[in-house]
Amino acid sequence: QPRVFSGVQPTGNLHLGNYLGAIVRFVEMQKTHDCIYCVVDLHAITVWQDPAALRTQIREVTAAFLAAGIDPEAHIVFNQSQVSAHAELAWIFNCVARLGWLNRMTQFKEKAGKDRENASVGLYAYPNLMSADILAYRATHVPVGEDQKQHLELARDTAAKFNHDFADSIAALGLGVGDDGFFPQPEPLIQGPATRVMSLRDGSKKMSKSDPSDNSRINLTDDADAIAQKIRRAKTDPEPLPSELDGLKGRPEADNLVGIYAALIGKPKADVLAEFGGAQFSVFKPALADLAVDRLAPVAGKMRELLADPAHIDAVLGRGAERARAIAAPILADVKDIVGLLRSA
Ligand code: TYM
Repeated sequence: QPRVFSGVQPTGNLHLGNYLGAIVRFVEMQKTHDCIYCVVDLHAITVWQDPAALRTQIREVTAAFLAAGIDPEAHIVFNQSQVSAHAELAWIFNCVARLGWLNRMTQFKEKAGKDRENASVGLYAYPNLMSADILAYRATHVPVGEDQKQHLELARDTAAKFNHDFADSIAALGLGVGDDGFFPQPEPLIQGPATRVMSLRDGSKKMSKSDPSDNSRINLTDDADAIAQKIRRAKTDPEPLPSELDGLKGRPEADNLVGIYAALIGKPKADVLAEFGGAQFSVFKPALADLAVDRLAPVAGKMRELLADPAHIDAVLGRGAERARAIAAPILADVKDIVGLLRSA
């Protein structure tokens, strides 16, 4: 039975990349799947977070989910640290995944930077916690942006190695599902025209929460003036827009802005070029700014309303955590039995 899981870190500055690459897809998946959406606070603390700011940021991501149209009644919305199965399964996966696999993770290399000796152990083990997030629910589909692809591959390898290492135990306990073993192979869903939204200042860098230049990204909470100004100042080349997709090759900034427009309006990039091919950026940028304001302002407004009532957000997370626990607990109990960890009845 298909099940969707995905997560977003509460590390501040939710931006257009998070929104178009992930949150808009989450909303879409609700129509066809049972979905579990998680504010991954345990992942956030792999780098230092001010405690008071972290609490606010957890509520902000939750508010963004709800404002964007995720329904916490029909689906599940919660924060990771309230469901202990994540941390418990992550430990078991720390013992399944291999050092060599983690050594290849490019996100760790980027985030640890040159001072690797001083990175937290949690930052290194981060992908195992992510595998646990997904597999604690035996989720089958994981909507993410392009930058999470390598982590998803590791989750698949971990699921396969667990199934293989414990094949006899899984069979003896009768816990296998079809030919898969105990855990399914979670499938990354990297879809749509905005799977990798780039910085507005540099078409070779992805838009990110940690870029020191606020002009590099559009934050979900930016007002109309800020959005318009950032788009006006976005780096471009001097050529008009092409009419065919091929014409975007070697033009990363143009490609990025067209991709953003396409994702905001919900059409493929080719359709956007059919409309704007031949247009100068002096024409396209104001159209993009209007569209962005039109789509983002209501989300920001709804977020502000929700954040005015933090008790309500906390209650949503509490209920979601309870429902998440009810799914994860029996799966974790099976995992313990499979591994041979004794549980008293
Ligand atoms: P995070 O919090 O960095 O980002 C949340 C989601 O936003 C996507 N994203 C982007 N998409 C397009 N363009 C961009 N510039 C851009 N920047 C970010 C990310 O791909 C992601 O989908 N490790 C994850 C969180 C996580 C998770 C999980 C995801 C923890 N456990 C389990 C899926 C399943 C992360 O750091 O995402």
